[in-house]
Amino acid sequence: MLKILKVNHFFAVATALFITVAFSGCVGGQLGQDNSNEYRNGMVVSANELASRVGLNILKKGGNAIDAAVAVQFALAVVYPNAGNIGGGGFMVYRGASGETNSLDFRETAPAIASRDMYLDSVGNPIVDKSLEGHLASGVPGSVAGMVAAHEKYGKLKWADLIEPAIALAKNGFKVSEQQAGEFNRRKERFVKNNPQGTALVKETDWLEDDVLLQPELAATLEKIRDKGQAGFYEGPVADSLLAEMRRGGGIISAEDLKNYKAIWRKPIVGNYKEYRIVTMPPPSSGGIALIQLLKSVEPYPLKRWGLNSDSTVQLMVEAERRVYADRAEYLGDPDFYKVPQVQLLNDAYIKSRMANFNWAYATPSSEIKAGVLKGAEHEETTHFSIVDRDGNAVSVTTTLNGSYGSSVVVKGGGFLLNNEMDDFSVKPGSPNMYGLVGGEANAIAPGKRMLSSMAPTIVEKDGKLFMIVGTPGGSTIITSVFQTIVNVIEFNKNMQSAVNAKKFHHQWLPDTLYVEKGALDSITTLKLINKGYPILERGSIGRVDAILKTKWGYYQGGADKRGDDKALGW
Ligand code: DON
Repeated sequence: MLKILKVNHFFAVATALFITVAFSGCVGGQLGQDNSNEYRNGMVVSANELASRVGLNILKKGGNAIDAAVAVQFALAVVYPNAGNIGGGGFMVYRGASGETNSLDFRETAPAIASRDMYLDSVGNPIVDKSLEGHLASGVPGSVAGMVAAHEKYGKLKWADLIEPAIALAKNGFKVSEQQAGEFNRRKERFVKNNPQGTALVKETDWLEDDVLLQPELAATLEKIRDKGQAGFYEGPVADSLLAEMRRGGGIISAEDLKNYKAIWRKPIVGNYKEYRIVTMPPPSSGGIALIQLLKSVEPYPLKRWGLNSDSTVQLMVEAERRVYADRAEYLGDPDFYKVPQVQLLNDAYIKSRMANFNWAYATPSSEIKAGVLKGAEHEETTHFSIVDRDGNAVSVTTTLNGSYGSSVVVKGGGFLLNNEMDDFSVKPGSPNMYGLVGGEANAIAPGKRMLSSMAPTIVEKDGKLFMIVGTPGGSTIITSVFQTIVNVIEFNKNMQSAVNAKKFHHQWLPDTLYVEKGALDSITTLKLINKGYPILERGSIGRVDAILKTKWGYYQGGADKRGDDKALGW
């Protein structure tokens, strides 16, 4: 739910007072420090305790961080079906214990017969929900190929041993959380509409907390992947089920599309912020470039002195965000199809020049391009997990179906959900996607092309050593949430959990709106910003960060987002 804070003195004061009263227990939106979760030998932080446990067991058995990441990715596909997936895609950033870095792109691709205007009506307007729901919304899934590529390059344990825990969870079932039961109930109509053949996610009576979800079809699919690797998903009976599903629902993914899918190793984006080195995801994610641009934009200013979520801090960060997201809309897309001006965008002088017209007296107005409206947070879902092993190898993975439960289509016989990632393309120049993001030529649909992402799995080094592993879901808010989490630790001395807990805010150029999580700003700050011309909208939670910090004493400190059922487990 979004709540408008009107640019009107009476309302501003009233709302500001309301915020102060409601959140008087949380100074600056903080939920308090928590030092209880520090471990020496390794850690897994993910959106679901069962998945974190699967990862931790792999680490304890001598698996490395990549082994654990593969096991967690498959486990999440079972126990966290709203975003964990084999029918979606994602990105991985890796840093080996000796400092070598790499990044893996397993983003979905547009099918070969996809076309630029495929979601437009006869007069050129986007058809509501066509890129979001049902069979036509799906890109060619990349997750299984991604896990195979990661394991082939860096894995230590046997592939089959990494899939087994997920198979057991699908076969024997697991107890759903209260949050999950509620989500399944709320989405029942949509699941039924898109899956007339039935799916494990729908039952006659309402789901209750602790009901057991059994997914035998998904278990069988995972067994094929266990036995045949990439071919177990992209060829043979699982591919046949996916193709049959496409025929049934008018989708366009073909056998060739599946066979041709490849995960790609890419050179990570690297940038410096003070004495920290940021290693993050390159295009086709905009996340890494935007993150570095944001950090560089605020680097010259005394954030530490101003403090967390103070008016100066918020104003500066928002003005940086406005400019960075404007660049994102214009210049970012799949680098294999569009020449992303990466070097220019990351040039120090360029970033500095972007901030030159920023005026402390009032908000810089965003351009007049038609503004999009962010939809409610409940329809968004992606998931991030962070892992470090005993040797200090670190993995940061963000993976997604795009919207919660993707296209809502569960492949009949295959038991897995398909993504609705096609909506991340710019379906029409200037027309906002589900996150209100606009784009143009750089992110236009083309066969085989990867849709632009905001996902920003990131690893931070300090003095050449591992410092932080961080990432989050949240659509367009991913970049600003990762940005704030890093700043919360480096500038505001938060421990990992407190940095994650801290209330967040977000601006994405268009719409020209400052989104704030309830309780992020105190009444005086709210008033000051409103008076400077920042239209403020209160919204539900921003981000769901799962992160790990290495303390100066050599312990791993987890930050598992309390906005969800997330869990940090270590040993
Ligand atoms: O790649 C992207 O940027 C989006 N598909 C991510 C979606 C997302 O984070 C939804 N989550 N809350």
